[in-house]
Amino acid sequence: MCGIVGYWGPHNPKDVIINGLKKLEYRGYDSAGVAILDHGNFKVVRASGKLSELQKKLEHETFDGHIGIGHTRWATHGVPSERNAHPHSVDGVSLVHNGIIENYQEIKEKLAKEGVKFSSDTDSELVAHLIARDIAKTQNLLTSVHNILPKLRGAYSIVVVCKNQPDTLVAFKNGPPLILGVSPKEVVIASDVQAIVEYTKNIMYLEDFETVEVRGTQFKVFDADFKPVTRRPHLIEWNAKVIEKAGYDTFMLKEIFEEPRAVASALAPHIDLDKMQVQLTGLGFSADNYEQLPKLDSKKDNAKTQQVFKDIERVFIIACGTSFYAGQVGEYLIENFAKLPVEVDIASEFRYRDPVIPKNSMVVVVSQSGETADTLAALRLAKQCGAITLSITNVQHSSIDREAQGHLYLNAGTEVGVASTKAFVATLAVFNLLALQIAKSRDQLTEHQEKHNLHALLAAPSQMEAVLSYDKFFAEAAKTFKSFKGLLYMGRGISYPLAMEGALKLKELAYMHAEGYAAGEMKHGPLALIDERMLIVMVAPRDKHFEKTLSNLQEAKARGGKIISIGTGDCRELKDLSEYYLSLPEADWFVNPLLEVIPLQLLAYHVARALEYDVDQPRNLAKSVTVE
Ligand code: M6R
Repeated sequence: MCGIVGYWGPHNPKDVIINGLKKLEYRGYDSAGVAILDHGNFKVVRASGKLSELQKKLEHETFDGHIGIGHTRWATHGVPSERNAHPHSVDGVSLVHNGIIENYQEIKEKLAKEGVKFSSDTDSELVAHLIARDIAKTQNLLTSVHNILPKLRGAYSIVVVCKNQPDTLVAFKNGPPLILGVSPKEVVIASDVQAIVEYTKNIMYLEDFETVEVRGTQFKVFDADFKPVTRRPHLIEWNAKVIEKAGYDTFMLKEIFEEPRAVASALAPHIDLDKMQVQLTGLGFSADNYEQLPKLDSKKDNAKTQQVFKDIERVFIIACGTSFYAGQVGEYLIENFAKLPVEVDIASEFRYRDPVIPKNSMVVVVSQSGETADTLAALRLAKQCGAITLSITNVQHSSIDREAQGHLYLNAGTEVGVASTKAFVATLAVFNLLALQIAKSRDQLTEHQEKHNLHALLAAPSQMEAVLSYDKFFAEAAKTFKSFKGLLYMGRGISYPLAMEGALKLKELAYMHAEGYAAGEMKHGPLALIDERMLIVMVAPRDKHFEKTLSNLQEAKARGGKIISIGTGDCRELKDLSEYYLSLPEADWFVNPLLEVIPLQLLAYHVARALEYDVDQPRNLAKSVTVE
């Protein structure tokens, strides 16, 4: 994680770097810092806490230089503090780092034996020491970065400056993204294009093991063997919409209220409204990867997509966190509609368990950010194993989007809140369409079923609008809910992943104990947790599991648990058993998750607010998890 910015150019580096770091705060926000050239030295200013703390410190600082680097941190080695904040400086070398140096202990011991004294507990500082010691011999920043790289293990990116070469930035990428933006008068390097596009849209994505040396507006890129690379930047399209809270107190609440629109936007490109047919367009399976993607010939592309879906014999869905739970919903949909076996896996488990990926498998990787390190590694593994890969991402041009063979987009718009909300519902919408398209390609879908499902999905946004009215209920009820010792979420069938997602939201926002369970599992252990201080959240739509879920609810009730139930319409059975009953509009089973998740998100949101926590930036987390 962590966000990096480097700048050379005519603007005030302090402003460019702080503007950039604001865009990157989603990558970490426990401390921040800058090193900017001033009277021949790189002056370092760092602060513990959010970026606003650094801004306060910088308010009266001036710098006469035109070059600098900045960093917003998500702690890996060493607690969040000013001492551990970046940049780390050693003998005129200042460095910002994103990622993990896996052999840092070994390096630290060696340096300590040589008499080096450390001023932080980070792995990053060690890299600054290695470069500074090497520069004493080479007097050249690029050469020294090249010299020390073989000593480092791990996935990491760095940007380095040095007072002996005050017009030079050197950056290296192996893992976490680094992007170069170049214009005739300035150069910006950052972890995300968002920090660059205000200055230039002429962009180059560094590949793994590439180093770039920026000297003024000139830059040179080198490959893993330090041979020059001739790739040039290209112009990207970018609609820089200013992301604001638009009258809401928080980004998260705004994003929850944007969910109906997010679902509509996810569905729109793939439904032919005249024929009422699903038409997953632009998947791009015909190109090896995104970088080489020629302008799509949509007919050829569609034929290729049909063929891929016809040929596959197994689907794997790989993701982390909320995207993983969306993937579990995807499993129910694809198995039900397309009658294909589906396996869903957490990326960090999949990548290390030597998975058996049979011939004719399709691996679907799901990631809002498109940068999650474990999901990216799982994608690469799947490609090595010969699977056809399809990404579902919200961020176009992200690493996962660029490396997958086929691409689907959420079109949810930027999600700022660390807790994923609108991306979740957009992913469910995309999975519905994917399941229908696979089913159709395999002759598993009747025309009637296709039309029926599409009508039902198109009606979902307005049904979701109605569910948003529970906002007021939760704003009030949260004052009571916040005092429970814990919450137990339960569901069956397609609502089971929703129980998991509800529990995750509460944990990450309200820091309360929460468990998500398949309702049928209760008697195998979790029932023991229940007493009158435990709040039970039962997701129980009127679907084929309803009666069984009701029995599970009886069992929980008999143990003294207080119950919130979420069901369909005016459900007398649930009302009788529950302290609080929340009614959802009648919908098909595959639409229910889109409606069920809203009360779960609002519950977590309002409990966290009642406890006075920062819901947009919960403690210890970051929006984009670019370390494993
Ligand atoms: O960007 P991704 O979808 O790959 O992120 C995966 C998880 O890190 C993410 O969903 C995380 O669990 C959210 N904070 C949950 O709200």
